[in-house]
Amino acid sequence: MALDRRALNFIFSVDFMRMGILWTLAVIFSQLRLLFRGISIKTPAFPRVPPNPSTRPVCIITGATSGLGKAAAHALSMERYFVILAGRSDHLLSKTIEEIKQQQEDAHLKAFQVDVSSLASILNFKNSVQQWLCDLHMHPSIQLLVNNAGILATSRRFTAEGYDKMMGTNYMGAFSMANVLLPLLKNSSKPSRIVNVTSFTHHCVSGAQFDEESLAGRNLQHLSSGKSYPLSRIYEYSKLCVLLFSYELHRQLFLADPSHHISVMAADPGVVRTNIMREVPQSLAELAYTALDLLCVLNSPESGVQSIIDAALAPPEASGHYFFGGKGRTLESTFLSYDPKLSKELWISSNNLLQKAQLTLQKSGEISRTSD
Ligand SMILES: NC(=O)c1ccc[n+]([C@@H]2O[C@H](COP(=O)([O-])OP(=O)(O)OC[C@H]3O[C@@H](n4cnc5c(N)ncnc54)[C@H](OP(=O)(O)O)[C@@H]3O)[C@@H](O)[C@H]2O)c1
Ligand SMILES: *[C@@H]1O[C@H](CO)[C@@H](O)[C@H](O)[C@H]1NC(C)=O
Ligand SMILES: *[C@@H]1O[C@H](CO)[C@@H](O)[C@H](O)[C@H]1NC(C)=O
Repeated sequence: MALDRRALNFIFSVDFMRMGILWTLAVIFSQLRLLFRGISIKTPAFPRVPPNPSTRPVCIITGATSGLGKAAAHALSMERYFVILAGRSDHLLSKTIEEIKQQQEDAHLKAFQVDVSSLASILNFKNSVQQWLCDLHMHPSIQLLVNNAGILATSRRFTAEGYDKMMGTNYMGAFSMANVLLPLLKNSSKPSRIVNVTSFTHHCVSGAQFDEESLAGRNLQHLSSGKSYPLSRIYEYSKLCVLLFSYELHRQLFLADPSHHISVMAADPGVVRTNIMREVPQSLAELAYTALDLLCVLNSPESGVQSIIDAALAPPEASGHYFFGGKGRTLESTFLSYDPKLSKELWISSNNLLQKAQLTLQKSGEISRTSD
């Protein structure tokens, strides 16, 4: 195996050590808890309740052109969902639809282009979906949103809103998607749901700030004082934010106002061989996968996606749970993620960021006044 210079630099970086050691320990820790979960009564397993065969609920999956999103699109279309595949590239979207159709001729699939790291793109996406539902004379609502799109960036880049690209995609993208699509989820006559894809790596975050500058990824001081891009810490932090938010939304939508019938779940696929490591030198990604395979913690997308499908099909009372390991099993996430004060702080900062971004778009005329 030839290791080029970039790979060698990477191998001696703090981030590679952190991913190699801490992330591996975190997943082994989760696997061990899975083994011993029989003793704990706090983490139930939930059955799958597929939709009524006379209905065809509509679900949206972000990042549906690769890895877990693609596997989820296939699995949910097998469960009679009309699956809206949301992805960045038209070409990959058509390719994915073709691949699923080859295995399942009668799959109901529709593709829409969206970049979840851009609010303008998300707003356009919502309008296109609404228009499409209207054209097909379908009820103006959706039943399931799977916030799956995510990246592991190895260099600092910025979104149109000026957020760090990884925070903007993994966290603010999921947050904005949930907020912009909430009217359509609320409009569903059947109970509806949001499933957020998170990661065991959130266990590695020891303390973090949730002010606007930190969420936007413009202030990285709280994560690292070094000069290089703290990619592993931003990734973990973005996934902790997803969890805190899932629980906050669960409190606001499911507990405080059960009339909405919107449940919120978090799903963690474990370690899965996908394209997530695309920015990491390939030789190192292969090395990591080989090691993880030897430790028996590496999953295929088809098996990793099981926790996502469990979360999508679990009964509504499973709202607010963290799915891990398939077979309907749930675990407890890190204690930080259950802190209601942090959740509130995160909620307020995220809302402020979203509102500012919306105002900027309105001023620049990129969008007309938001519809609702
Ligand atoms: N693999 C793992 O071990 C693992 C573990 C825990 C959690 N996860 C989480 O699982 C989720 C899916 O990751 P994966 O492993 O399946 O990775 P992947 O194979 O790289 O797939 C990621 C998908 O997200 C899409 N995407 C990225 N940025 C986007 C954007 N701005 N707008 C719209 N779509 C975007 C990608 O689109 P393109 O095809 O156009 O690039 C791709 O379809 C992520 O949230 C990840 O953090 C993964
Ligand atoms: C909700 O559904 C009703 C019809 O049942 C429709 O008139 C209304 O426009 C929908 N609201 C949204 C936000 O789509
Ligand atoms: C999902 O996460 C987004 C932001 O990360 C948040 O807006 C939403 O409330 C969360 N919902 C669930 C069900 O996790």
